[in-house]
Amino acid sequence: MTSFPSDFIWGAATAAHQVEGNNINSDLWVLEHCDPTLFEEPSLDACDHYHRFADDIRMLAGLGLNCYRFSIEWARIEPERGHFSRSALDHYHRVLAACHENGVAPMVTFYHFSSPRWFAAMNGWENPAAGDLFVRYCEHTSRHLGDMIAFASTFNEPNLPMLLRWIANADIPFVKVMRMSRQASRAIGASKFGCFFLGDGEKLQRHMISAHHRARAALKSGPGNYPVGVSVSIQDEQAVGPGSRRDKKCAEVYAPWLDAAQGSDFLGVQAYTRARVGKKGDLGPEPGVELTQMGYEYWPDALEACLRSAAARVSVPIYITESGVATADDSRRIDYIQRSLQGVLRCLADGIDVRGYVHWSLMDNFEWIFGYRPKFGLVAIDRATQERTVKPSARYLGEIARTNRIPEPAAIR
Ligand code: BGC
Repeated sequence: MTSFPSDFIWGAATAAHQVEGNNINSDLWVLEHCDPTLFEEPSLDACDHYHRFADDIRMLAGLGLNCYRFSIEWARIEPERGHFSRSALDHYHRVLAACHENGVAPMVTFYHFSSPRWFAAMNGWENPAAGDLFVRYCEHTSRHLGDMIAFASTFNEPNLPMLLRWIANADIPFVKVMRMSRQASRAIGASKFGCFFLGDGEKLQRHMISAHHRARAALKSGPGNYPVGVSVSIQDEQAVGPGSRRDKKCAEVYAPWLDAAQGSDFLGVQAYTRARVGKKGDLGPEPGVELTQMGYEYWPDALEACLRSAAARVSVPIYITESGVATADDSRRIDYIQRSLQGVLRCLADGIDVRGYVHWSLMDNFEWIFGYRPKFGLVAIDRATQERTVKPSARYLGEIARTNRIPEPAAIR
């Protein structure tokens, strides 16, 4: 197989907190401003995408992409519990309209890691009432925006807390985390600070799987008629040596959410790297291998492996809702795109039902605790002027999207 189907979806992704700027009612804003904090720097204006979305979406369409994946920020829609902001809903209405004006299908994520402060104050996802509140937010939002949505994910990588338990050398300074959380609760006048990244993985999983199914039912009841799925973080899990705990890891981290996707309209696969799992758990990269700016292995084969392992468990259509690489050397991004998409073609040739590819990320943005250092973008952002500069990798992906073929990179630059 040398080309992608003519109706293949080609996109790029962002998430509200990472690009919009001044997401001041969110739990992460509070954490970013604690002392001590795990965050290398605060998000502040981010990419000012809240004001520049129209130009950004036009730029994405100009590259040749036909899909924009972005998230709606719960902390903006419902800044206080039970108070829904008409102005925030109207904002996202304009974002969706900009997609349609540019011939771009909007793929909307309802929750991408950040929550309203008041939600953190009630201990976030660990609170048994959390799901009902999330479903109410989805219902309210879809009543205003549903007829403009092309695809929706309830959650972005809800399995991340479970994955983080395994990640090799997850060098988490617990004392710092405790002090940051204590200070964050004081800052919002609560006894607990329930944040997605810091919660009890098992409890979160239980509450979020139930919330996913109920939110999906709410979104499916209209307005609009669009597929609703969930985007799962998957690594290429490789067993190393006798007694590897790889299968235990997969059963804990992926199986519950793959099964949840099986009861939905699609699975979103998000793949970045591989993990080598030995008898004690993750082993980390072998010495001397190429690493990305995130510290994990440069491994473009991850996408193909993750599509194959997901397709062995689910039969719903798959969209690659994230794939990408953090690098200051854009030629490595081009290589990563080329090699990972060659893997997608092999999956398609074997009959795996992959319907689209959405690159992470449209632009260099706020990479959570790592701040603005890792560069995942197809487009560079000048942090002082907010000027956007299209990188060669963006033109490369755009060419693929326009032709449904993977050219040699040299033909583009
Ligand atoms: C997340 C993004 C993040 C990206 C790169 C995914 O885990 O959905 O928010 O920026 O990976 O690390």
